[in-house]
Amino acid sequence: MCGIFGVIGSREVSSLIIDGLRKLEYRGYDSAGLATIQNLNKNQFGELLIRKSQGKLINLSNLIKEKPIQGHLGIGHTRWATHGKPNEKNAHPHIDFTGQIAVVQNGIIENHRDLSKRLKLKGIKFNSETDTEIIPHLLGLEIKNLLDKGLLTNGQTLLSAVQNVLSLLEGTYSIGVIWAKAPDALVVARRQAPLVIGCGEGEYFCASDSTALVGFTRTVLPLEDHEVALLTPLGIELYDENGNRQYREPSLLRGTELFADKKNYRHFMLKEIYEQPETAQLWIDRYMPSGVPAENLVALPISKSSIEKIERIQILACGTSRHAAMVGAYLLEQFAGVPTNVFFASEFRYSPPPLSPNTLTIGVSQSGETADTLAALRMEKQRRDAINDPDFSFHQLGITNRLDSSLARELDHVIDIESGIEIGVAATKTFLGQMLSFYGLTILFASHKHKRSTQEILDFSNELRMVPKQLLDIIKKHDALSKEIARLFVETKDVIFLGRGINYPIALEGALKLKEISYIHAQGYPAGELKHGPIALLDKHVPVISIAIPGVVYEKVISNSQEAKARDARLIGVAPHGPESEMFDELFSIPKVSEWISPLLTVIPLQLFSYHIASHKGLDVDQPRNLAKSVTVE
Ligand code: G6P
Repeated sequence: MCGIFGVIGSREVSSLIIDGLRKLEYRGYDSAGLATIQNLNKNQFGELLIRKSQGKLINLSNLIKEKPIQGHLGIGHTRWATHGKPNEKNAHPHIDFTGQIAVVQNGIIENHRDLSKRLKLKGIKFNSETDTEIIPHLLGLEIKNLLDKGLLTNGQTLLSAVQNVLSLLEGTYSIGVIWAKAPDALVVARRQAPLVIGCGEGEYFCASDSTALVGFTRTVLPLEDHEVALLTPLGIELYDENGNRQYREPSLLRGTELFADKKNYRHFMLKEIYEQPETAQLWIDRYMPSGVPAENLVALPISKSSIEKIERIQILACGTSRHAAMVGAYLLEQFAGVPTNVFFASEFRYSPPPLSPNTLTIGVSQSGETADTLAALRMEKQRRDAINDPDFSFHQLGITNRLDSSLARELDHVIDIESGIEIGVAATKTFLGQMLSFYGLTILFASHKHKRSTQEILDFSNELRMVPKQLLDIIKKHDALSKEIARLFVETKDVIFLGRGINYPIALEGALKLKEISYIHAQGYPAGELKHGPIALLDKHVPVISIAIPGVVYEKVISNSQEAKARDARLIGVAPHGPESEMFDELFSIPKVSEWISPLLTVIPLQLFSYHIASHKGLDVDQPRNLAKSVTVE
């Protein structure tokens, strides 16, 4: 989703900004732009220069080659359209009626209609259809007001103007602002949309995501909600929403995990699919080290006493993270005996269930920045804090791949899935990491609540330890097969995915992956539902992918698959080799594992299948149209 990158220092910034924006490309966008303040003119003020282009960043960088843009201060933006089409006019930065103030924004200004009406009554003309454009105009008026009151033409005045204007805005956003008359000031602010300050040598940066800062600096200062900061070449002034100066030490970005390198893979998504055996091994080494006593098998940030107290679990998530949560809910209920519900975070925030006592709320988000998930978690905390009853207190746990994210900072207990940076918009290895975290929680709940015998828990965890090796074999085997059969489905318009029990969420995930990257309509169903509607769609043009793993519902899934085949549907199985697998037209064979463990394996051929269809169609696999990696608006 929209990405902000800004720099102030003593170097030419346009190429630095393009570089920073490039590292934000993976978030998803459809146009880009940048503004700089060019060297001082004879009036001692700078000149605001803007370049914008529709489409990919390469268009912007080509434009800058043709029409270079100078300056030691600048802000850039990749836009994911919300208000107004993805064209040059709507691309950021937006400027005010004086042509001297430029603003980039990530988020949504919810009261922009009211504000723009007021501005239009004052005769201000708008040049775009965006909600953002009201901000520079409001700043233009406010600066005039402050100068009339005798304030000086400098960065402090810009800061005051931003502070005053922010109090008029409703919504969630982060912004970067520059003013031609204050060429040594970059003002940034955050309200629930991410923004990180980077501290370099005599230069400062701001970015929507710390990945964009890699290569510039490792010293970062994430803005807290409602904070505003003035960046100059000499330092940072940080203020809370009441204008009180804040002092906080910056922190260091860890390790090299933030470096995104495609290696020799054609796409990041394929590389990330291939990284899954390693993701699983690292997760196991960190959270399930071998040689520890049976009652202490998993080291997750939740205490034995909390687990004993918890009677119910609710999980809030969106997209692929919600599918991981659904696998988790199945395990927590069926293996560990804890009643568990999964909610779409976007629904939960407006229609939460009545409060239940002793409930653990888990937020799952690979990016840790999904606006709906964060808002749902905040809302749940608020309503639990409000009743002031210890039985209803907010027991919280986050599962994320980004320890520097808002989710990780806002929740007291967080499982870091440590999958390494994931660039492909369609989540693969982070999905595996999220599922593994639920396997770990299941072991803890089953063991501390005495729902399973020590032997059952040991068998479960021993099977889990074998997963990395099995993943390696499956990827090797099915990459070639899925590539081969993908060609057959390039013209396909609809696909049905069937699964049941613990593999129903995998059917949903298979369908989501296919939709996301190949733009083929696909739907996942619990296999028993086939007869209640979707069977009407079946004929030789609608393939059915059936996940059939021996266990509680194996026979049922096999019969449901046969019903599909009887309607001439091409049938693809994700199942172990055996007499029943003969009925599949194509088989992605899965080793004979227990049903409990199977989702960790059955998802792999589905990821590869979608990948190869999209890649065969020549689509932009890593940045599918209209999608974003980090969905920071509601
Ligand atoms: C976007 C991404 C999906 C992701 C979903 C939830 O739609 O494209 O891959 O599953 O957001 O994101 P989260 O960061 O909360 O897991």
